Amino acid sequence: MRTIVLPIVLTAAFFAACSDKVAEPDPYDPAHDYFTFANVDQFATEKIALDLTVDFDSEQLIGSATLTLQRLDASETQVILDTRDLNVSAAHVVLADETLLPVEFRFGESDAIKGTPLLLELPGTAQSATSFVLRIEYTTSPGSTALQWLPPNLTAGGKHPLMFSQSQAIHARSWVPLQDTPSVRVTYEATIRTPPELLAVMSANNDPLTPRGGEYYFEMPQPIPSYLMAIAVGNIFFAPLGEDTGVYAEPELLDASVFEFADTQEMLEQAEEIFGPYEWGRYDLLVLPPSFPYGGMENPRLSFITPSLLAGDRSLVSVVAHELAHSWSGNLVTNATWRDQWLNEGTTSYLEARLMEVIYGKDRVDEERVLSYRELMLDLETVPLDMQALAPRLETGDPDDFQGTMHYSKGDLLFTYLENAFGRAAFDRFLKMYFDEFSFETINSERFLDYLDQHLLQAEGSTVGRAQIEQWLYQAGVPDDAPVPQSSTLNAAAAMAKAWAEGEIGVAEIPIASWSPQATRHFVNSLPKELASDRLAELDEGLGFSGTRNAEIGRTWFIQVAERRYTPAYEQLEQFLNRYGRGRLIYPVYVALAQNGNDLELAREIFDKARSAYHPVTDVRIARSLDAANSQSD
Ligand code: BES
Ligand code: ZN
Repeated sequence: MRTIVLPIVLTAAFFAACSDKVAEPDPYDPAHDYFTFANVDQFATEKIALDLTVDFDSEQLIGSATLTLQRLDASETQVILDTRDLNVSAAHVVLADETLLPVEFRFGESDAIKGTPLLLELPGTAQSATSFVLRIEYTTSPGSTALQWLPPNLTAGGKHPLMFSQSQAIHARSWVPLQDTPSVRVTYEATIRTPPELLAVMSANNDPLTPRGGEYYFEMPQPIPSYLMAIAVGNIFFAPLGEDTGVYAEPELLDASVFEFADTQEMLEQAEEIFGPYEWGRYDLLVLPPSFPYGGMENPRLSFITPSLLAGDRSLVSVVAHELAHSWSGNLVTNATWRDQWLNEGTTSYLEARLMEVIYGKDRVDEERVLSYRELMLDLETVPLDMQALAPRLETGDPDDFQGTMHYSKGDLLFTYLENAFGRAAFDRFLKMYFDEFSFETINSERFLDYLDQHLLQAEGSTVGRAQIEQWLYQAGVPDDAPVPQSSTLNAAAAMAKAWAEGEIGVAEIPIASWSPQATRHFVNSLPKELASDRLAELDEGLGFSGTRNAEIGRTWFIQVAERRYTPAYEQLEQFLNRYGRGRLIYPVYVALAQNGNDLELAREIFDKARSAYHPVTDVRIARSLDAANSQSD
């Protein structure tokens, strides 16, 4: 090996010595957003006005975006915006009297992940104006990574098409040309034209009483980062949940949604109690079709929600608590770059647990924490060490792949650790102060650390110092003194799994009817590794796991079915993979199939049949993981 490495080292050294033109790569800057082309140090967008027609026939948004920009650099005359697969037909500077000055524009070089920079040369007076207005006429492409255009057969009602956006992390640029980075905040307004029988909603001031008619006007007066811009259009209707809360859904799902999410108003009230004022006006939910790729998305004033939460027993509503909690951690105080995502997701996971505790009690929170902790421990076995830090180095790759239990569960553990060290009262004071101090701002991990150090660690005095927190932020794994979640009800379920596996009790003696769905999941997770696949038949016959309507129990069960190659349940496994499109539910089942040593081909076949109904981001993720499994088996 040495003989190969040496010449390469020499060659590089040779060039470095001989040429002063060889550019040193810029040192990694943790405060820099590596996932935008926009020249945000030169210009800052303050406001966006959209005028868009939603064309279901061509699967395009057609219209214009009008950006009000603030100049930060006196000498720069070129504005660079992010786009992906946008068709731009014209660009103008709009003067105060509405006169249009043509703007020369061209696209720069495309990047597979970041999209294509749009370069706009400012004309005449706009070259020196401190603030100016830029209008871009454009259409999206049917393949826009942010938009899913569902034909009627993929909706609950089956009669009308439906379209929705998912902008996080860097997909806003595929439906609006903009500075697509969380470090820039904008207010927006929008005129949206749709087929007259459909309703449009946005992450803005939706009025529950809006009559249908095909033209809708929205305003989002609070400044938000681009990843929170959101739109959906379909045969959706509103039902109130409480005074300031409600739910939008197709009529077929409306009653079930009202039942499932009945506690939303109380969640909102409790959240204000603990975290401080809710700054956004109303809080509504939008229940989407099954292909919605996430459990929920915290679009301000209107969280987008997967229908897989409709279990009929309110057992999966921690996702709603989570999305609501983002109204503080994420939407009010926003991660500056995607590398700081744990500040959004970890803080929110902790707030979610606090809300779940006041409303449903400590036992339920303990159960959910144990389940998440188990997923975290499994991930620590596979996630590369340098990606196990809460705030790792992140400058390449797809930010969509930079998601997972680290931000959520490890982040929640850090906050629990702080709560334990300083006491709940002091920690709550700190949280309220933090949200107040940074409201409507962005923050990175280093600034958070400084603020925490000053206002909690030093102010309150304890054995926890900056060095401990740095370990959480910058080191792999979890520190030795991290809290380990415990749940007596889940321990009992795990003991039952062992007792049954060892033949001490029969299926009929498993007290599943008295368990929470969380305990049932833990029971399934706790089946011993060496348990033969045919013994799953006894469980399935007695407890009906393959036919469960609880999406999380199904996920847990079908992972086991695939890992253990319990083939009698494969037909129902395939149905499961067709019933849901939420990545969290189906992705690990595909991976378990692909990696069980036998079923990679089957995984591909099932995927090929199911994928046309999946969302583009889910599709990409599964395709990538099946390809990876393929190259491992070569
Ligand atoms: N903001 C996330 C979803 C997200 C993260 C979208 C990163 C794109 C990139 C949302 O708040 C979320 O965390 N959803 C979770 C719910 C949950 C309770 C952990 C999900 O979808 O599973
Ligand atoms: Zn979240």
